Amino acid sequence: MKKKILKALKDSDKYVSGEELSNTIGVTRTAIWKHIKQLKEEGYKIESISRKGYKLVSEPDTIDSKALEIELKDKSFIKEIVHYNTVDSTNSQGKLMAAQGAIEGTIVISEEQTGGKGRLGREWISPKGTGIWMSIILKPNIEPQEATIITQITAAAVASAIIKLTGIKAGIKWPNDIIVDGKKVCGILTEMSGELNSINYVVVGIGVNVNMNQEDFPEELKEVAISLKESFGEDLSRKELVIKILSEFEELYLDFINTNNAQKSISICRELSVTLGKQVKIVQRGKTILAEALDITEDGELLIKSSDENIQKVVSGEVSVRGIIGYI
Ligand code: BTN
Repeated sequence: MKKKILKALKDSDKYVSGEELSNTIGVTRTAIWKHIKQLKEEGYKIESISRKGYKLVSEPDTIDSKALEIELKDKSFIKEIVHYNTVDSTNSQGKLMAAQGAIEGTIVISEEQTGGKGRLGREWISPKGTGIWMSIILKPNIEPQEATIITQITAAAVASAIIKLTGIKAGIKWPNDIIVDGKKVCGILTEMSGELNSINYVVVGIGVNVNMNQEDFPEELKEVAISLKESFGEDLSRKELVIKILSEFEELYLDFINTNNAQKSISICRELSVTLGKQVKIVQRGKTILAEALDITEDGELLIKSSDENIQKVVSGEVSVRGIIGYI
């Protein structure tokens, strides 16, 4: 019956009265009202004015498999899209699926995560329908130590997608954060399973705060987190952004696999970096290094010059950039 109500609203560009709906569909006006309420809860924006009736203003921004598969049908890299309404973590789910044989190019996406994971065992807030909570399963034929480059490829893809789609000036804080207006809008979590010299699978998780309001962030994150909507000024289509991110990712990842170098991604990371040329604080295994960030190497490592003039490469670690989110 919900479908019939929706069709009646879609077919009309004017208000449709409750009485009209009840006559054509053959149910009471109370039943109509109940279904309209449910449709609103599903994300349909329906205006209701007494004595005029109901009008469909917009449909929900669905990112389910069907909606995405139609748009991504030309992408050879994307093999399957698995969509959840709710899941603990798309990365955990992705790892499970990869271990059970899911192929490279399988995408796991969810409307919400109840146990979203950030780096270093942190929690990743993932409220329903407001962001992109997505993981990509990869099975690259590369050495395990090369896998860090995947985070750089992903950061380049996400930042490029945001810039191309919205015009928002997104920057990349090495190695895995996308920054907008000095705050974090996206985090990337790359997890791997492998042997000493071979990779079983890589799951790269992308969390983008798209349409969240400040009140959606917990108190301790308000200073450091932002959504694209807050910067852009109005809601953005999650569907369009998912499509753009996956298209950019496909281009950069396949280029890396085919040429065996990630030059394209690294030049984007350098160009959009908010880290290079800045004072950075790197915490690695409990040790803190204060240094200047000089460059990102072809392998995706950060080249730094510490206060004793020593130049070294950093593969991973917790990096704080002076001036970005108050040196946090
Ligand atoms: C970070 O900046 O700490 C990384 C955050 C990564 C969050 C994403 S959301 C989709 C995927 N599933 C998870 O549980 N985490 C990643």
